[in-house]
Amino acid sequence: MSDKCILVTGGAGYIGSHACIELLQANYRVVVLDNLSNSKAESLARVEKITGKVPVFIQGDVRDSQVLSDIFTQYDIYAVMHFAGLKAVGESCLLPTKYYQNNVGGTLVLVEVMAKFGVKKIIFSSSATVYGEPDTVKYTETLPVYGATNPYGKSKAMSEDILKDLAAADVLANDKMPWKVILLRYFNPIGAHISGLIGEDPNGTPNNLIPYVSQVAVGKLERLSVFGDDYPTIDGTGVRDYIHVVDLVKGHLAALQSFEGMSGCKAYNLGAGKGYSVLQIIAAFERHTDNKIPYQIVARRIGDIAENYADPSLALRELNWQTEKNLDDMVSDTWRWQSQNPNGYEVN
Ligand code: NAD
Ligand code: UD1
Repeated sequence: MSDKCILVTGGAGYIGSHACIELLQANYRVVVLDNLSNSKAESLARVEKITGKVPVFIQGDVRDSQVLSDIFTQYDIYAVMHFAGLKAVGESCLLPTKYYQNNVGGTLVLVEVMAKFGVKKIIFSSSATVYGEPDTVKYTETLPVYGATNPYGKSKAMSEDILKDLAAADVLANDKMPWKVILLRYFNPIGAHISGLIGEDPNGTPNNLIPYVSQVAVGKLERLSVFGDDYPTIDGTGVRDYIHVVDLVKGHLAALQSFEGMSGCKAYNLGAGKGYSVLQIIAAFERHTDNKIPYQIVARRIGDIAENYADPSLALRELNWQTEKNLDDMVSDTWRWQSQNPNGYEVN
């Protein structure tokens, strides 16, 4: 329990809004900076409804050093959770500079202002995508961070590099107040808060499996395309490590607590350590919704790999964190959010 103040960039988004709940419920004070480029302020109204507490909300861009300076002047920020970023892989291939500008540029401006104000603790939203295409399906943090296959993934790897270099520079300079950087590499976050009040609200047609399946289940989309059934996996379809978003944000609170004893830069996988195939996900949705999920097998999606899952043992050893929720929780919570809010945060 704490009354420290945390700056949550991207706090109106899917993962950030769930982080706000956990932080407020653990008595942290929360300042959200979000430009609402991929979210709605309604998510924060729902956070207030769930927690009975009001996060401070500043609508602004993380690349705006003046807005950031104003925040660090006005609030006694203990640490930053940096969720703000663009995340659509396909769009990043079409508009790479938009992704480098927003994700890498945003991280650069943020850390420069943080350093100016002597706030040198940051938790960064990274991704398993930074491992590229390694020769193994079980990803450990010791794998090289190399070969991300798209500009989105590269923007995460570049941001990681900036943060690693900052931490290394302080060691070189023997800085008395060195950077403390925690890189959290997410596997596939899904699910929603158990209340059904907040969840993932993608713009337009979803690219990712779970939002697509939920929109098929609720009748907004006609049928799922399963991208390939000839992978060397349990049933031929792609296998991923799905992690409940509430477990994921609890990992951030564990990371926050670990700042006390650490210095430098640490990277942790946040995943369940176990994978499910696309067909297993469809079957779970059918169980929970009592609906058939119409699907067709189509060609593989370019850039997809067959299978991956996390080795989450480092986070267990060093952060005392592990997932608690199972696939049924992930699917039933996703369904509660989707069925109660078929149009997301738009008025239904
Ligand atoms: P999201 O799009 O729901 O949330 C990101 C938030 O950041 C949005 O509210 C958006 O409006 C805001 N934002 C974007 N650029 C900004 C800027 N320049 N200034 C201020 N606000 C800005 O995405 P999410 O799923 O909640 O993801 C959060 C973070 O986690 C992102 O950095 C994402 O890349 C990373 N991540 C997500 C996943 C995933 O599957 N969801 C996986 C790995 C990593
Ligand atoms: C994708 C991104 C990854 C990003 C992550 C979270 C790609 C290649 N990878 O991961 O960089 O970090 O989202 O945003 O885009 N599937 C279908 N039909 C669909 C959608 C997906 O069969 O309509 C399959 C995919 O082939 C895959 C699995 O479902 O096997 C999961 O896909 P998805 O949810 O898009 O996540 P990733 O591909 O793991």
